[in-house]
Amino acid sequence: MKKLTAAIPLAFLLFFGCKEAPERPYNNGINIIPAPAELVQNEGSFNLNSSTRISADSILNPITDYFCAKIQKSTGYSLDRKEAASDVITLSIDTALNVPSKEGYTLKVTSDKVDIVGKSAQGVFYGMQTLMQLLPAEIESQTVVDDIAWKIPAVTVRDYPRFPYRGMMLDVTRHYNDLDFIKKQIDLLAMFKINRFHWHLTDDQLWTIEIKRYPELTTIGSVRNEQDGTVHKGCFTQEQVKELVAYANERFVEVIPEIELPGHALAALSAYPQYSCTGGPFTHRVVWGVEPDVYCAGNDATFEFLQNVLTEVAPLFTSPYIHIGGDECPKDRWIECPKCQARMRAEGLKTPFELQSYFVQRIEKHVNSLGKSIIGWDEILEGGIAPSATIMSWRGLEGGITAARAGHDVIMSPGDWLYLDKYQGAAEVEPVAIGGYLTPEKTYSFDPVPAELNEQEAKHIIGVQANIWTEYMYEPGAPEYFIYPRIFALAEIGWTPLAVKDYDDFERRIDNALVRLDGHDVNYHIPMPEGPLSDRMVFTDSLRLGFGNTRDYPMVYTLDGTTPDKTSSRYTDTLCFDADTTLKIATLLPSGKTSRIRTIEIVKESLMPAMKAESTPGMLMKETTGLYLDTTAMKDAKWSDPVVVNEFVKTRVESTDYKTPWVKVYEGYFEVPESGVYTVTTDQYVLYIDGRPVIVNDGKVATRHLLNKKTIALESGKHRFTLIVNNRNAGGWPYTWSKATFFYKSPSQTEFTDVSNTTITH
Ligand code: ACM
Ligand code: ZN
Repeated sequence: MKKLTAAIPLAFLLFFGCKEAPERPYNNGINIIPAPAELVQNEGSFNLNSSTRISADSILNPITDYFCAKIQKSTGYSLDRKEAASDVITLSIDTALNVPSKEGYTLKVTSDKVDIVGKSAQGVFYGMQTLMQLLPAEIESQTVVDDIAWKIPAVTVRDYPRFPYRGMMLDVTRHYNDLDFIKKQIDLLAMFKINRFHWHLTDDQLWTIEIKRYPELTTIGSVRNEQDGTVHKGCFTQEQVKELVAYANERFVEVIPEIELPGHALAALSAYPQYSCTGGPFTHRVVWGVEPDVYCAGNDATFEFLQNVLTEVAPLFTSPYIHIGGDECPKDRWIECPKCQARMRAEGLKTPFELQSYFVQRIEKHVNSLGKSIIGWDEILEGGIAPSATIMSWRGLEGGITAARAGHDVIMSPGDWLYLDKYQGAAEVEPVAIGGYLTPEKTYSFDPVPAELNEQEAKHIIGVQANIWTEYMYEPGAPEYFIYPRIFALAEIGWTPLAVKDYDDFERRIDNALVRLDGHDVNYHIPMPEGPLSDRMVFTDSLRLGFGNTRDYPMVYTLDGTTPDKTSSRYTDTLCFDADTTLKIATLLPSGKTSRIRTIEIVKESLMPAMKAESTPGMLMKETTGLYLDTTAMKDAKWSDPVVVNEFVKTRVESTDYKTPWVKVYEGYFEVPESGVYTVTTDQYVLYIDGRPVIVNDGKVATRHLLNKKTIALESGKHRFTLIVNNRNAGGWPYTWSKATFFYKSPSQTEFTDVSNTTITH
């Protein structure tokens, strides 16, 4: 008995008393994003514990409830809701608080109290968000974390935003994401004091909001039939819209709907073709880009339709704005349309741009009559700006500068800094994106107030917005990978005074914020190991591979085919290989989480022998017509007899070429100048070299940007190739929107050679 009682405390000690808390280096220091306007750190800290009280006016109950629920999940503490002299968090509103914005607040943390005063409820909400970010990142956990001290450093904060409008746009038309996904984003945006959600609800590819007067906008407009037979659909009911608006408002996020006009309208016109210039019929655009068929500006019935739509949309939202689009409206149809031409004569409009301005201003009057004002993309400046419009400047800063000088409010959203659909690492190691390259650092460097504006004009820059266009975000949830962490930079541009911004410190704080995102199961971007840009690295003698990543995070790897984790070998220097190996390598975050894994097959090969026989200029081409979704299906195709041709088919002659699908197979010899390991790439379907499949894009979505690179050892001289060009639409980017050719790089070249610029023989 005695022995047993002695054993119990020992076991207790072993399992609990001596349990070592994991290291959490990302919790060191102050990690608030966006950085507060003014923060002073003092001695000591406040210990959040199971007896801590929270005291607030009843008007703040929704805010208190919101944060108490979060705190309970991660700490297990159910904070007592009552006044106390110490060990208490007090929340209050003081409308006379000395901060220059109603969103402002003060926060004082001492060892025995936390005191948050907001200039409004929104200020209190942001004070609480700051408090959450002073706690360890695990405060965002959905389950109790019990091996951590919930310490809040003693600070004095006086904080307020630089701009009132801090937004994110999500396109739900190219790829639909549901209400739960959007609610999750609203919670996350609110954590970082982003206060506008711009909902891009209609476009050429989908209509996604229920309009009771026009049911076919739902039954037809919100269902897209892709060329491969798959269906992409989604539509928010008015009940769901109201639910989201209320949900967002509780988190101080205003939801702004965008109903696109006069262009980007093909989904609506598929359902109601009578509101176009030609009368249709139409089906949704199933490729990306800009559609020539738009709303007819000469038909009064078109305005009646749009006004009825807007009349239904307006009361669903509490925002004072409706975004009416206005971007990328080709004028081709208007120029040919008798109704549009008659309108121009009747209204004395000299150019189609003035007709666009007429269109927007007519809609603007209706929106004003609904008690709201319009936001439009910067194209609405062309042909004369609508009197009360706010301009969203996306093509650069110029539109914003012009509008601000004309006394219009401006939201800066220039693509070069704030389009978060661009690549954030080497294209070869990232999922396909629209193009470009945009790191958090570049986004962070953006200043929304152009130097050209004087003080008075600059007041019209009301804020900033990041845009998430979803063409290349194929899976539900995929936008998260593009949004985070770059949206943190948007948050800080919009909130933090210029003098306080500091990129190096911001980058440090990202590490902590990512752990907060882990609490919400967010699929954020982690820099990938870069260096070798192919997942098949061939060598003839030996191979040396060097890796890096855009954040200089540590990397871990294995050579035995197992998945690397934080305990795997650390990458410290180039890796050398002299035998076949599977290398798996990942970037390691301070939290211990790894990036997606890169698997690289390292293969020893001897040079593929060159063809020594005589050959004659040109290559053989055989073809077939019809839609072939993969190479297996092509096996049963009826092919033409091969003919000799001297060049590959010219692609992208018409952007609609994919609508009459065909396949062409080219076969010939290309000649390489030296012996060694070549890198080869193509955006076309399949490339064989010397009878081996080298590039296989078959089955992939949207092959572009030459992402798929492979290596192959070739003896100098002629090598046989087979290139399959399949004219079909894959993922909105038809294969023939990319050049029909392939590229190779010799061991001594730095640039690729386009094989179509070389002599091909057969
Ligand atoms: C836009 O990116 N077309 C607004
Ligand atoms: Zn027309």
